Amino acid sequence: MSTNQYLRPVTTEKREHIYIGGCDTIDLAKKYGTPLYVLDEATIRQICREYKEAFRNYKNIRMMYACKSLCNLAVLKILDEEGFGFDTVSSGEIFTASKAGVKMSKVLFNGNNKSLEEIELALELGVGRFSVDNFYEAELLNRISESKGKTANILLRITPGIECHTHDYIQTGQIDSKFGFDLSQVDEIINLIKNKYNNLNLKGIHAHIGSQIFEARSYYDEVEILIKEAARIKEVHSIELEEVNIGGGLGVKYTENDCPPSVEELAAAVTEAMQAALEKYNISEPVIYIEPGRSIISTAGVTLYTVGSVKNIPNVRKYVALDGGMADNPRPSTYQAKYTAEVANKVNNCETELVTLAGRYCESGDILIENIELPYLETGDIICVYNTGAYNYSMASNYNRVPKPGMVLVNNSQSDMIVSRESLEDLIARENIPDRLRQQ
Ligand code: LLP
Repeated sequence: MSTNQYLRPVTTEKREHIYIGGCDTIDLAKKYGTPLYVLDEATIRQICREYKEAFRNYKNIRMMYACKSLCNLAVLKILDEEGFGFDTVSSGEIFTASKAGVKMSKVLFNGNNKSLEEIELALELGVGRFSVDNFYEAELLNRISESKGKTANILLRITPGIECHTHDYIQTGQIDSKFGFDLSQVDEIINLIKNKYNNLNLKGIHAHIGSQIFEARSYYDEVEILIKEAARIKEVHSIELEEVNIGGGLGVKYTENDCPPSVEELAAAVTEAMQAALEKYNISEPVIYIEPGRSIISTAGVTLYTVGSVKNIPNVRKYVALDGGMADNPRPSTYQAKYTAEVANKVNNCETELVTLAGRYCESGDILIENIELPYLETGDIICVYNTGAYNYSMASNYNRVPKPGMVLVNNSQSDMIVSRESLEDLIARENIPDRLRQQ
């Protein structure tokens, strides 16, 4: 088993309460308040090591943590220590990486509409790779690089004709996607790079086939398509690409029913596909980049909430309202995502009832978990929702003008605040009433 196949952080213990990283979650809730994101350092480090171990036979591998899943100074510091590089998609993520002390050559800049200011910042800071997404960006990046007397090392983002999300897996000739060059456009962009864009240095190609992927086989097909394309580029343009970026996407276990592949299975699919493709096509072994986000950080995170009001509609449903919801975890309302929860202070109560965990936001759709069996709940109980490390804080909002929760890192019975809770003052800190309105 690899860590992305666990439902809970690896250090989770059930004593009289739920413990994570050696810390009693009830103490954490008391000390820091709720809602509270809790991140388990040991889980993050364990999955990082599993990735490295799984790709042990492929020496030319570069792991790039996808910052979009969760990006803050402490998390990037841990990933840096584990030897990961960083897939970034904005100046905010690039800036955070530089402030975390990351070597900028280990940073790759992705995205389908990078702005002029973002590209300038990336070039100034010395970001290692740009994944060029479209014709407009190639021209812009070349122009800015030229004006700064620099050369940008680039990968071309292409759409390989594979798309998979969880259980759906489609392979078609052409994919309707806003990202990357269609395979039919590759020759045109390479000709521009060869003949016109002198400040772009083509290092390789890049694709990303989806997120929360449950079939390792899809990576096999992706690698085969990418190597075939690299061989075609060699043949047509006499350019031997040194790097192939296969993107991220490995799934995690949000509920008992989810069975994502292990990191070993992913690595086996990639390495086997690579060996087979290299034998079939006449090119030398490229460096592989992989960009996992969710599978690195999701399992390490839980969110603690306090139970508030309870509304029982006889013969219909019992709503139990929590002090957070769709603004700190938008995934259930956005993607109908399913989560697993337990009652942190009622570990040993065996009598359960069917409830629906509702959020505190003013929308009927703000339901965190519909129909879950939990020990009989009372106001003040602490609910622990698992697998909230990825795409929770990073997608959080201030909807209803609620300050964002804080985040603590736990390890060896110690807890440290790594992102403080927003205050009411923070909510208005950047706001201004124009003088003309004050005069009225
Ligand atoms: N590389 C690229 C180019 C990507 O677009 C993504 C994610 C990743 C890597 C990382 O994928 P991961 O390993 O995390 O699956 N907000 C959605 C997920 C959006 C993923 C977007 N791209 C969610 O909450 O499910």
